Amino acid sequence: MASLKDTGGVHASSNRKIVLVGFMGAGKSTAASRVSELTGTEVADADALLEAELGEPIASFFERHGEQAFRMREEALVVRLLDRPGPRVIALGGGAVESERVRNLLREHLCVYLEIDAERAWGRSAGSDRPLARERESFRRLHSRRVPLYEEVADAVLPALEGRGLDHALAASVALANAHVPPSVRMVWAPTSDGGYPVYVGEGALGAMGTLWPGGPRAFAVSDERVWGMHGQALEDGLAGAVGAVEAITVTPGEQQKNVGEAERILRELARAGMERSDTLVAFGGGVIGDLAGFCAAVYQRGVSCVQVPTTVVGQVDSAYGGKTGVDLPEAKNYVGAFHQPAAVFTDPSLLTTLPHAELRAGFAEVVKTALIAGGVLWERLQRLPPLTEVVATDVERLRAIIESCLRTKLAVVAVDELDQGLRAALNLGHTFAHALEAATGYAAYRHGEAVGVGLLAALEVSERELGLDPSVREQVTELLARHGLPRRFKGPSTEELLSALGRDKKRRQGRQNLVLLRAPGDVVTECEVSVSVLREVIEGCRESPAAAMPG
Ligand SMILES: NC(=O)c1ccc[n+]([C@@H]2O[C@H](COP(=O)([O-])OP(=O)(O)OC[C@H]3O[C@@H](n4cnc5c(N)ncnc54)[C@H](O)[C@@H]3O)[C@@H](O)[C@H]2O)c1
Repeated sequence: MASLKDTGGVHASSNRKIVLVGFMGAGKSTAASRVSELTGTEVADADALLEAELGEPIASFFERHGEQAFRMREEALVVRLLDRPGPRVIALGGGAVESERVRNLLREHLCVYLEIDAERAWGRSAGSDRPLARERESFRRLHSRRVPLYEEVADAVLPALEGRGLDHALAASVALANAHVPPSVRMVWAPTSDGGYPVYVGEGALGAMGTLWPGGPRAFAVSDERVWGMHGQALEDGLAGAVGAVEAITVTPGEQQKNVGEAERILRELARAGMERSDTLVAFGGGVIGDLAGFCAAVYQRGVSCVQVPTTVVGQVDSAYGGKTGVDLPEAKNYVGAFHQPAAVFTDPSLLTTLPHAELRAGFAEVVKTALIAGGVLWERLQRLPPLTEVVATDVERLRAIIESCLRTKLAVVAVDELDQGLRAALNLGHTFAHALEAATGYAAYRHGEAVGVGLLAALEVSERELGLDPSVREQVTELLARHGLPRRFKGPSTEELLSALGRDKKRRQGRQNLVLLRAPGDVVTECEVSVSVLREVIEGCRESPAAAMPG
């Protein structure tokens, strides 16, 4: 049978089944019942059906006949469930995805992957009659082996959720199953205290906006002139059918426009255009537009719904998610703002093909930052990544995978500290220095990402001194930045000017400089108090020597 995913077709059929996959203890049966209620359709629990067919509990069949015999019976039953008419909602046993035949068939249907980490899964499964949950270490190995298989088949990824968040995420999964969406687009659920929002990521996400539109009857797009000139029509086409005309308000490109005056101009244009609270603002551009337009959405009539459509690497890997919006003051960056979570994010990596190389490179610095925070697979994957300029041109799928890993890292951090009371500060790794450099150079000398690259090296050097970080990490980051043609040193402001700009950092408490540092990739330490003398030395060390011809 030909697969829609393989042929690049568009998923549409309402016969498409909704299949819940995930490791033991992820809550597949509960979620399947909930989806069945939402859709008013029948549900099949593969494990329960299998037990009925075997005529005995899975545990005893396993005991008497072994795993291989069990897997054969399981595969036969799951193939029947997937391949024939019957219940529309299916909860699969945790191991069913080990069968290649099952994985191939799953491509025809909408797979909702319920994430659960090994620790939590063990807590829920140990002591039960599950035959593969008897010994902790082998349980953990099984988890590591299966996670890539769930990832491979997933069309929607739901982190561990409960209550309202789970309901919203499952409702969005049902909508995705019924929508005309290219198979390259998958949904990642972003959990928030309010329930959360969907992030649609993949080539074709822009074109799918109308089908998946979460907003009101009218859309007001805030964009920068360059982005609107290149992609405005595609946005309007994507929204066709879902909203009436799209009203566009454009801004001159650049960080200098991220200010209170420009926010006022946009707010007044929205008022003159008659925007109401039931309408939706679309932030269509890079991080500057995301922050500026998101801020306008947060304060216009005390808050209207905002859909983020990021068009730069910085936007797609980082700034579009998490609800931090705001503008700069001449005195300091991001000093005026509000938390305002998006209603949805549409992240289409193909938009990056028009991004100037210098912007692609600058965005890579945020990728490095995220990989340092995540550690593990993302950090390792980055070491082998060719320059983004190459990846964008040749391998959109690889680009999507990197973007998705980064945004999921960010969402996981935001989920535990939405309002930036503690852990979320980890996302600021390298940013204290970067923001000071941007402010001290009038937001004109360095792209945000370029400043972040130098800021990361400064933070890593302080981390070596204060936390004993292995110097090889700074060497690796230096090499990665060099490979992407990014500066490794700064020039311009004096050390005293930078120290004074650092003094206005929002993370500063009772006059003390708090930095985010790294003990090792994946091990970030927030609120590290660092003396001015160390900062002064590190700043001096990061300064480009007057004789150097090239940055770095
Ligand atoms: N809110 C957050 O959590 C968060 C996180 C990180 C960064 N940020 C903010 O993001 C901002 C930096 O964002 P940025 O680097 O995206 O800069 P940007 O928005 O200024 O975009 C960079 C340039 O790329 C152009 N551009 C954008 N998309 C394009 C496309 N698809 N094709 C061609 N040109 C395109 C723009 O016109 C602009 O000239 C900073 O203000 C930073 O503070 C916010």
